[in-house]
Amino acid sequence: MNNIGGTPKIPVSKPTPWEKFYEQTEGHQPWAHTIKSIELAPDKDLAIDIGAGALNESKYALEKGFKQVIAIDTSKKFVERAEQLASLDKRFEWHNIKASEFPMFPESISYVVATNSFSFMTKDEVKIVWQNIREGLKSGGILACTFFGVKDQFNMPEDGHTRTFYTREEINEFIKDYEVIENTELNGNTENVKSADGTKKRWHMFTLILRKK
Ligand SMILES: C[S@@+](CC[C@H](N)C(=O)[O-])C[C@H]1O[C@@H](n2cnc3c(N)ncnc32)[C@H](O)[C@@H]1O
Repeated sequence: MNNIGGTPKIPVSKPTPWEKFYEQTEGHQPWAHTIKSIELAPDKDLAIDIGAGALNESKYALEKGFKQVIAIDTSKKFVERAEQLASLDKRFEWHNIKASEFPMFPESISYVVATNSFSFMTKDEVKIVWQNIREGLKSGGILACTFFGVKDQFNMPEDGHTRTFYTREEINEFIKDYEVIENTELNGNTENVKSADGTKKRWHMFTLILRKK
C-alpha cells in the first residue's frame, strides 16, 4: 500500500473472530431448545453454559431462578460481558478457559447448555467435555446442546475458526447412554433459522436434549 505524503501508517487491529458475533447476538431470545429444556432440570441448583458467547443463555438461567450459573468461554471478548454480569448478579460465575479445563464435580450439575459451541472445539476436546458433563450431571440432570453436521455451509476451508462437523452416526454414539428427549436434525435451508448476521445459510445441525439416567 502507498503511504502518500508520509502520513504515518496506523496499524489496524483485527477484531477477534467472536467480537462481531457477540454484537450480533447480544440480547437475543434464548434458543427454542434452551427454553424447552431448562424447564426439565430436576432442580435449580447449578446451571452451566458452555461456550457462553454473549451470555444470552446464562442470563436466561439466572432469570429462571438458578442458584448458581457458571459460564465458560475461551474468547477474550466474553470476559468484558461476563465481568459486567457478575457485578450485577452474585449467582453468576465465569471462567475464561477451555471447556475441557473446567473441573465438573460428580453429580453436582442440574442443567448444562452448550449451543453451537462443541463445533468450535476439536473432536478430542469434545470427548473430554462430554465425559465430564456425563459425570458432572446429577441423576435426572439435563444436557441441551447442538452440533454442526457435515453438510453445513460452514463446512468450508479454514477461516480462522476451528470447526468440527458430525455425522448422524457420531451423534448416535454420543447420546447412547442418555434418555433422549429431543434428537432432531435440521438439514437444508430454512426460513426459521438464520445465521447471527441475519442471513440465510444452509444448515446441518443436530439439536439434542438429553437426560442423565
Ligand atoms: C457460535 S458461539 C455460540 C455462543 C452462544 N452459545 C450462543 O448460542 O450464542 C461459540 C462460542 O464457543 C466458544 N468456544 C470456542 N471454543 C471453546 C472451548 N474450547 N471452550 C469453551 N468455549 C469455546 C467461542 O468463544 C464462542 O463464544
